[in-house]
Amino acid sequence: MAVILDGKALSKKIRNSLKNEVKELKEKFGRPPSLAVVLVGNNPASEIYVRNKIKACSEVGIDSIDRRLPETVTQEELNSIVKELNEDPNVDGIIVQLPLPNGLSCREVVNYISPEKDVDGFHPVNVGKCTLGLYDQGLMPCTPAGVMKFFEEYNIPLQGKNAVMVGHSNIVGKPLANMLINANATVSVCHVYTKDLSHYTRYADVLCVATGVPGLIKADMVKEGAVVIDIGISRVNGKIVGDVDFEGVKEKVSAITPVPGGVGPMTITMLLYNTVKAFKMRNG
Ligand code: GUN
Repeated sequence: MAVILDGKALSKKIRNSLKNEVKELKEKFGRPPSLAVVLVGNNPASEIYVRNKIKACSEVGIDSIDRRLPETVTQEELNSIVKELNEDPNVDGIIVQLPLPNGLSCREVVNYISPEKDVDGFHPVNVGKCTLGLYDQGLMPCTPAGVMKFFEEYNIPLQGKNAVMVGHSNIVGKPLANMLINANATVSVCHVYTKDLSHYTRYADVLCVATGVPGLIKADMVKEGAVVIDIGISRVNGKIVGDVDFEGVKEKVSAITPVPGGVGPMTITMLLYNTVKAFKMRNG
């Protein structure tokens, strides 16, 4: 029987400890950590994400600043709002919710965010620190950092294991592959152009999947006893599903994350974690 890796429980545990830490920081420094969330336009999915992030902040006592901008905002105006937030001593973390409306460059605005406040971990300085394994010196991207928390919590060894990352996005696949390399796993990275995907996945002791293709990974593509981390999230016929055929695969593996209730809740938890970390780094 596979262990179901419980992201809700792990999130709750981390958020409880953050709540205590926020309370102590507020007593010591006179204000709690604060997160500025910039949302451009009115993409309905982004609005839900932003609402959830702000709600999560308030639940652990982190202040949030909700900056809504019309989709007619120019790149220069957007950059200057980020600059203002960079310079505001009462702001510890900044995120610009992605995707941006057409015509705005996400790379340009992300590069504008001060690396010390980049709680998404998307700035090249933080990407570099992640690659080098300098986790204590920067802010690590939330979803990959959340995945690594599962390995820690459930004592899943990585050293010497064959890890396969399916998906090579800048937000998840590439940084998670680097974190697995830093943990001394032997890592293969597969993606949409990979020939014979199952050749790789069948070899994986640890299989991480972040493609957004619902049900891509079937039982015959995984190794008996593998650990499977499903980072996909899609809506199919009104139901939330991952990239892994959970019902089939769970019969064969030793541990697996469900969707929903696996990696999903950890992403916002790690955003809170990064906001507290940014506050502590800035306040020495
Ligand atoms: N859009 C989808 N995921 C994310 C994320 O992690 N951060 C930001 N800023 N935008 C997103």
